Amino acid sequence: MNILVTGGAGYIGSHTCLSLLEAGHDVCVADNFSNSKEAPLSRIQEITGRRLQFYRIDLTQKASLSRVFESHRFDAVIHFAGLKAVGESVRVPLAYYYNNIVGSLVLFELMGAYGVKNIVFSSSATVYGEPEKVPIQESFPVCPTNPYGRTKLYIENILRDLYAADPQWNIAILRYFNPVGAHPSGRIGEDPNDIPNNLMPFISQVAVGKQPALFVYGNDYPTHDGTGVRDYIHVMDLAEGHVHALNRLRADPGLATYNLGTGRGASVLEMIAAFEKASGKPIPYKIASRREGDIAVCYADPALAEKELGWTAKRGINEMCEDAWRWQSKNPDGYT
Ligand code: NAD
Ligand code: UFG
Repeated sequence: MNILVTGGAGYIGSHTCLSLLEAGHDVCVADNFSNSKEAPLSRIQEITGRRLQFYRIDLTQKASLSRVFESHRFDAVIHFAGLKAVGESVRVPLAYYYNNIVGSLVLFELMGAYGVKNIVFSSSATVYGEPEKVPIQESFPVCPTNPYGRTKLYIENILRDLYAADPQWNIAILRYFNPVGAHPSGRIGEDPNDIPNNLMPFISQVAVGKQPALFVYGNDYPTHDGTGVRDYIHVMDLAEGHVHALNRLRADPGLATYNLGTGRGASVLEMIAAFEKASGKPIPYKIASRREGDIAVCYADPALAEKELGWTAKRGINEMCEDAWRWQSKNPDGYT
């Protein structure tokens, strides 16, 4: 298939482009590089030995995006492009609503106009807010607690309305849990612009000596060791989930929503121990107070994705840490 990948230069997008190329698909990336660089795109081509095309384009700019649709005949779109930092979304909500929602509206409008009605959308476990129980199933209530999460839910609902109005659309909404790790080559990985907000990139920067110590946000949660529990999923498992979702759109059209997680939770202290083992480096840490907005436990029930997409996550936390460390140690300053 010929796939347009929005946000394809970013962390999850770049790993997915690699999986798509390896699965034999043709890839065209549209990215404004607001949170990424061009380097991963050339590295993906080196790793796979295949070419991809890319456009430096902001999705909110309809005329520019229209030219991309004019020059290609896409079979499907994978829509990653968006801003994703929870804390920043609380500080500058309008920038998040504008970028994520207007960008999506422009994209969907052009897809309809050019007859490209197959889409895989990057949603997030954050739409569930604080779950009443775990593991989380797709049918659970949604109640995001921050503007970023609300943009994800609103875009999901726009897609549901689009499908209700025109059932020719084929839509897979993927709710990711906590993506971590890197391609095993160590050539592409996560490259945060500033001090990382998320656990795994922060631990990696402590291991490589760029940060002195990790702050563990709370050890008084009702979990087995008191620290927060999450469903960490290897980014390559996640990338492969998108290839499965595309196949599903073709084989069984319609609209469906899937959790992409492993179904297993790991605590902050367990992640620190796994990273120390993988890297052979000590990870000094200090217990700090809880981070506002954090929840105690979050992990997926991934049974629906297994049943309908034929996909399960294969890689465990040791492999996630080994691959994250290979990327970080080979590229201590990321892509620069
Ligand atoms: P990322 O920031 O690395 O990638 C997003 C890409 O989109 C970047 O390359 C950025 O430059 C691009 N972009 C942003 N706004 C754009 C616009 N208006 N026009 C064109 N390009 C634009 O993020 P990621 O971690 O790869 O996440 C990809 C998607 O998955 C996002 O939609 C994110 O919300 C979602 N998601 C991420 C996580 C996570 O923890 N990483 C979890 C759940 C969901
Ligand atoms: N944590 C620390 N110290 C840190 C960073 C994180 O102790 O420096 C803890 C958090 O308190 C939490 C766990 O590590 O218990 C994971 O935190 P992350 O920030 O890595 O991930 P979150 O689960 O908070 O959120 C991430 C993304 C969201 C997304 C969500 C579910 O940031 O956008 O996963 O996909 F919605």
